[in-house]
Amino acid sequence: MIESRKEDHVKISLKEDVDSSKNYWEDIEFYHHSVPEIDFQDIDIGVDFLDKSLDAPLMIAGMTGGYEGAEDFNERLASVAETLGIGFGVGSQRAALENDELRKSYETVARYSPPMVLGNIGAPQLIKQKASEALSLAEANELLEMIEGDYLAVHFNYLQEAVQPEGDLKAKGVIDSLKELSSKVPTIAKETGAGVSPQTALTFQNAGVKAIDVGGKGGTSFSAVEHYRNQEDKMKTISKNLWNWGIPTPVSIVECRGSVSLPLIATGGIKNGVQVAKAISLGADIVGMAGGVLRALADEKRTVEEYFERVIRELKTVMFLLGCEEIDELLNVKKIFTGDLKNWID
Ligand SMILES: Cc1cc2nc3c(=O)[nH]c(=O)nc-3n(C[C@H](O)[C@H](O)[C@H](O)COP(=O)(O)O)c2cc1C
Repeated sequence: MIESRKEDHVKISLKEDVDSSKNYWEDIEFYHHSVPEIDFQDIDIGVDFLDKSLDAPLMIAGMTGGYEGAEDFNERLASVAETLGIGFGVGSQRAALENDELRKSYETVARYSPPMVLGNIGAPQLIKQKASEALSLAEANELLEMIEGDYLAVHFNYLQEAVQPEGDLKAKGVIDSLKELSSKVPTIAKETGAGVSPQTALTFQNAGVKAIDVGGKGGTSFSAVEHYRNQEDKMKTISKNLWNWGIPTPVSIVECRGSVSLPLIATGGIKNGVQVAKAISLGADIVGMAGGVLRALADEKRTVEEYFERVIRELKTVMFLLGCEEIDELLNVKKIFTGDLKNWID
């Protein structure tokens, strides 16, 4: 069932190492200058994203909802996002459409006021599948209403769907449906760990989405997550062999920035403030974090708030060392690409 599927994802992501084999953020370095010529206290990391003002260029990327326990999960994270003035997204809300009792695991978010709240639905749900009807406009509106959300993230998780036995594999016509939906509801197109190519970014832009979350390779691999869920040998092997499929997050940012004018969210393998600075210096407007936040939530020694305070301090430290008072100035600093990333960028 869907609800246990969402719970499985959380449990597996905490218990197993489900990251892609390489974190490509290691292959970028900033060029150091010894004289910052600014005061640390003057560093301002606030940003405007779409029509929202965030206190830091960060958001908690959509992860969950739709099972017992998810209410507490979403409540704790929405509360942190409100306190820190950063964005927050819920995980797929499909379960709430199928079972009224599961709505409260999402509805709890409406009690908090992060500066930006994202709803979430899978792109496969935009069209009729073997076992489900296409999402209606009324349902899409309902998804945003239940969390008092600002934008509906439509996640393109076809890799995940394809490496599990019960996946939704009908994809023909999905862009027409996205276009139709985006003309009535503010949407954000989102990948979930395999990255967005420049051609796909253009397709999303033409479909009328407001922003793109490139969701690239380097962090949580959903093929890896499904590998641990799969019981049967054939699917277990297939999901293992596609574990490292996709476009690395830094590459996806550079390429999408070159092809579209839409605001970009960088999600995929970002766990510290140095990586946040790198993502922004490549052209991302804000950064989304999922796996790292999940582990922080389960960490008994530190709170999620402390985790983000560390990330923010790291981001400011990098900005100080690079002499950047404002977030935008990161775009102009010198970067060096090494290793595999250099091959990708070339
Ligand atoms: C446990 C878990 C559940 C997730 N569920 C969803 C989801 O329902 N919808 C979605 O768009 N992305 C989902 N994601 C993907 C994340 O939003 C993010 O794109 C991806 O994990 C890459 O970021 P990371 O490397 O920081 O984890 C999930 C991630 C995790 C770890």
